[in-house]
Amino acid sequence: MNLEQESSERDPLEQIAELFLARRRAGENPALSDYERQHPDLAADIRDLFPALLMMEEGRACVDKAPAAAPAAGVDTVRRSARLQVPPGASPEQVTRGERIYLGQASNGTCAGCHGSNALGTPQGPPLDRNHWMWSDGSLAGISDIIQKGVLKPRRYQGIMPPYGGSPLSKEDLAAVTAYVWAVAHSDDR
Ligand code: HEC
Repeated sequence: MNLEQESSERDPLEQIAELFLARRRAGENPALSDYERQHPDLAADIRDLFPALLMMEEGRACVDKAPAAAPAAGVDTVRRSARLQVPPGASPEQVTRGERIYLGQASNGTCAGCHGSNALGTPQGPPLDRNHWMWSDGSLAGISDIIQKGVLKPRRYQGIMPPYGGSPLSKEDLAAVTAYVWAVAHSDDR
């Protein structure tokens, strides 16, 4: 596997986290400081994220003594839900549900495919984590409206965003994914 190639497509932090966890699971004890030194631009994220991952790993190891075979699928979830701000008028449950839809883990959500699993954007769709908006005032109503309509004439990107990202959502799911997008945009997790 060529890491250099792969890293252009995937969130580098997520990749490093997966490698880190893989080494832990293999019984090694890699030092955080090594990772910080090797990836100075991500050092702050590594310091934030990795201790949380370790806690999760240890929790899991205690709960079931079985070897932890699951892939690092929780990376985004840990990174986000630990510190997400819940939008006014929405509930933490909505944000959690919205995250699952966003990531395609519920209701056939498509968002991460174009906006990236960490909402950092991809060549198919803009970042959603900055609270700078091209298409709305950034209110829940505004964000919800654009998700519902999609963007048929993008300003910067080549491809379009179909309504609901291409996979129709119920009212509840629309509200949940809207709450999640708002929450990501207002988190200081960058
Ligand atoms: C097929 C790719 C694609 C999918 C799938 C997709 N989007 Fe988009 N999205 C885009 C593009 C392209 C734009 C507009 C960029 C531009 O105007 O240049 C956009 C714009 C947006 C905006 C407005 C951003 C702004 O700056 O105002 C939001 C919010 C948004 N998408 C959320 C979502 C959510 C939530 C989902 C999942 C339900 C989703 N998108 C699925 C491609 C996609």
